[in-house]
Amino acid sequence: MVRFVDVGNINRWAAKTGVERILTDMVEYLERDFRRWPSFDKVPRVASHSPLGVIELMPTSDGVTYGFKYVNGHPSNPSRGLQTVTAFGVLADVQSGYPTFWSEMTVLTAFRTAATSAMVARALARPDAHTMAMIGTGTQSEFQALAFRGLLGINRLRVWDTDPEAIAKFVRNLAPLGFEIVVATGATDAVTGADIITTCTADKANATVLTDAMVAPGVHINAIGGDCPGKTELDPGILHRADVFVEFTAQTRIEGEIQQMQPDFPVTEIWQVLLGEATGRTSARQITVFDSVGFAIEDFSALRFLQDAVDQTPFYIDIDLVADPDDPKDLFGLVTAGAPVLV
Ligand SMILES: NC(=O)c1ccc[n+]([C@@H]2O[C@H](COP(=O)([O-])OP(=O)(O)OC[C@H]3O[C@@H](n4cnc5c(N)ncnc54)[C@H](O)[C@@H]3O)[C@@H](O)[C@H]2O)c1
Repeated sequence: MVRFVDVGNINRWAAKTGVERILTDMVEYLERDFRRWPSFDKVPRVASHSPLGVIELMPTSDGVTYGFKYVNGHPSNPSRGLQTVTAFGVLADVQSGYPTFWSEMTVLTAFRTAATSAMVARALARPDAHTMAMIGTGTQSEFQALAFRGLLGINRLRVWDTDPEAIAKFVRNLAPLGFEIVVATGATDAVTGADIITTCTADKANATVLTDAMVAPGVHINAIGGDCPGKTELDPGILHRADVFVEFTAQTRIEGEIQQMQPDFPVTEIWQVLLGEATGRTSARQITVFDSVGFAIEDFSALRFLQDAVDQTPFYIDIDLVADPDDPKDLFGLVTAGAPVLV
C-alpha cells in the first residue's frame, strides 16, 4: 500500500496544525537537506514548454529515498478560473524502486516555497529587518508573509498587485492574523522603506517589476516569480549591484533572473552559506538577491516532512497503487484471477 495525502486531507491537517507552525517546522527539514546538498542527485528540471506555460518534472534522490514532483506554471490560468501553479509528488524506496508516499503538492508547494524563502532570508537579510514589500499578492503571497513572520518576525507589510481584487483578498486573509498592512499606490511606493522585497508576480515575460532605482542599499530581495526561460522580474542593473544567491546554479542559469546575465555571472549556492563554506551578507549596505526558481530537493524535503507529520494521523489514506502478485513473475495470474474459467 502507498500512503496518499489528497487535497481534503492536507487541508484538514493544515487547519489542525496551523499554517505558520507548518512553515517554521518545515524549515528544519529543508535546512537539514540543504546542509547535505552534495549527497543528492541533482539535474535541472525537465521542462515541456507551450505558448501558455510549462509542465515540469523535478527528480532527486539521496540514495535511500527517491522523489519527484510534477508541476505546471501557466500565468494566464487565473483569467480562465484556473490556478497558475498546480502539483503532485511522490517518494519511493531506492532499494526496491517501489513508491511509498504520494501527495497533492499544490498546497505543499506554497508551503515549501515560502519556507525556503524565509530560510534563505534568515541567512541573508539584515538582522534588524522589520518591513517587507510584497509585489504580487496571488496564491503564494500569504504563505510567504506567514513564513517571514514565523522565522524573521516580520510583521509590517507593504503590498502591491496590478489586480486590486488580489490585494483585497490578501488584506482580507492576513489583516485578521495581526499583520500591519499598507496597501501601496504602486510598486515604487510599496518598496519605499522596505528592508526585504518579495517579488511573486506571474507573467510569461521579461518584466521589470523592480527597476534598479527602486532598490535601496541594504535590501534583501526574495525574487520567486522569475522561474522559467523568458520569465523574469528584475532589472539586470539590480543584479550587477547585488550579490546573487541561488539554489542549483545549472537550473537557475536557464530559468532564473540570471538568465539575463553572462553565463559566467558570479553566484553563490545557498547551501554553501548555510554550511559556512561561503559568505552571505557582509555589510549593512550590501544588496542580496535570492534568485529563487524552486529546486527538486526542496520538494523532497517537503514530502519527507509531510510523510512524517501525517504518520499516526487520519490525514492520509492507503491506496493500492502497485500491482504486487504473490509470485513476482506471475502478473498475468493476478490479472486473470477473477476471470471466469473457460472450458
Ligand atoms: N521560485 C519558486 O520556487 C516558485 C514556486 C511557486 C511559484 N513560483 C512563481 O511565483 C509566481 C507567483 O505564483 P502564484 O502561484 O502566486 O501566481 P498567481 O497567478 O496566483 O499570482 C501572481 C500575481 O501577480 C500579479 N502580477 C502580475 N504581474 C504583476 C506586476 N507587474 N506587478 C504587480 N503584480 C503583478 C497578478 O495580478 C497575480 O495576482 C509565479 O510566477 C510562479 O511561477 C515560483
